[in-house]
Amino acid sequence: MARALAMMLLMAIALTTTMSAASTMDITDKDLASEESLWAMYERWCENHSVEREIGDKTRRFNVFKENARMIHEFNQQDVPYKLSLNLFGDMTDEEVERTYGRCSNIRSNSRKRRHQGRLTQGSIIAREDLPAAVDWRMMGYDQRPSAVTNVKRQGTCGGCWAFAAIAAVEGINSIKTRNLTSLSVQQLLDCDKGNEGCRGGNAEGAFKYIIHHGGIETEAEYPYVGHEHGRCLVPKQDQNTVVTIDGYKQVPPNEVALMQAVAAQPVVVALDANSTAFRRYGGGVFVGPCGTDLNHEMTVVGYGTTNEQDSKKRMDYWIIKNSLGPEWGENGYIRIARDVNSQAEDGLCGILIYASYPVKFKRKGVNDTMKIV
Ligand SMILES: *[C@@H]1O[C@H](CO)[C@@H](O)[C@H](O)[C@H]1NC(C)=O
Ligand SMILES: *[C@@H]1O[C@H](CO)[C@@H](O)[C@H](O)[C@H]1NC(C)=O
Ligand SMILES: *[C@@H]1O[C@H](CO)[C@@H](O)[C@H](O)[C@H]1NC(C)=O
Ligand SMILES: *[C@@H]1O[C@H](CO)[C@@H](O)[C@H](O)[C@H]1NC(C)=O
Repeated sequence: MARALAMMLLMAIALTTTMSAASTMDITDKDLASEESLWAMYERWCENHSVEREIGDKTRRFNVFKENARMIHEFNQQDVPYKLSLNLFGDMTDEEVERTYGRCSNIRSNSRKRRHQGRLTQGSIIAREDLPAAVDWRMMGYDQRPSAVTNVKRQGTCGGCWAFAAIAAVEGINSIKTRNLTSLSVQQLLDCDKGNEGCRGGNAEGAFKYIIHHGGIETEAEYPYVGHEHGRCLVPKQDQNTVVTIDGYKQVPPNEVALMQAVAAQPVVVALDANSTAFRRYGGGVFVGPCGTDLNHEMTVVGYGTTNEQDSKKRMDYWIIKNSLGPEWGENGYIRIARDVNSQAEDGLCGILIYASYPVKFKRKGVNDTMKIV
């Protein structure tokens, strides 16, 4: 009873604090100073993430939140090129996040075969110097092209990262080839691609195969995301009206210049190891690990670049990667991951070079394509 009362008091304090609170979720020493200030921060976090917790659950989760807040604050005092944040996982333990958002890629981490294949095709690689220094497909492109990247999507508790990653890549090449940026259906892949396992995991190459064999993919508007499998495919077998097609897909040889070359031409799917506290709670900057090379997550590289510190020794090369955890995660839904990491030249950081691929789409008659860099 006393406890409940204290809690209500805390909530009242929290309410008044929220209204005047700073808009950012940066953690300050003041936030960590007392139970009251921590609770106020938690309330602010709940509000900003549209999270409603049952009161019993809320006290339990508050304890998790406190621990996370302290850990993150401590981490962020360090001299590391990225920050952690109380993102959408702020009041969840690592184990919980791992259970709910864990492995969504079913790629076997034994990548030797793939690496071997990569070596054989390295003759086609052009020199690093011939590539643009920076690429960002989110921007409007050459000669008034639209962006090639739709808004960041939110997979929720469905382990469909593979489908989101594949769709982002298809949206990209479709925009590049047709000058029409259209959001496409992740849900169709979850429901209809029997080579993959819906919300239980899959891989983007399988998704490309499905889209090729099916003869295209519906738009998001036609077949919207619901966050779980329907249990059956809701697309008629022959349906050529609204579908966006691709003509094939290619694997990127596992080396950095090959991935840069591919990304300079279009958004590219990568698989990597996202199973770490640092990745889950990433809140901005250039991610440098720690991470292994177990390929449990798939995302889409939409560009690359270099930070612009005055001191050129401090500059860092990075990949710009679209995730599918909504805009509250990372840098508005994106992560920048260190590129040009010598110690792991073969795999790339977190294994990012091991298993990259992209859809191929040819020009269609009637589409006036004056694209320079394909
Ligand atoms: C909520 O989070 C967003 C994105 O991090 C931020 O822009 C906004 O100001 C925050 N609002 C509050 C009330 O904390
Ligand atoms: C993530 O790592 C933990 C601990 O290393 C392990 O127990 C778990 O199985 C891993 N999860 C995935 C999805 O690989
Ligand atoms: C873009 O493509 C979508 C899907 O094929 C189509 O519905 C829409 O009309 C197109 N928009 C334009 C401007 O051509
Ligand atoms: C394609 O567009 C370019 C520039 O907009 C124009 O110069 C060219 O004539 C067009 N070609 C065709 C076949 O319409």
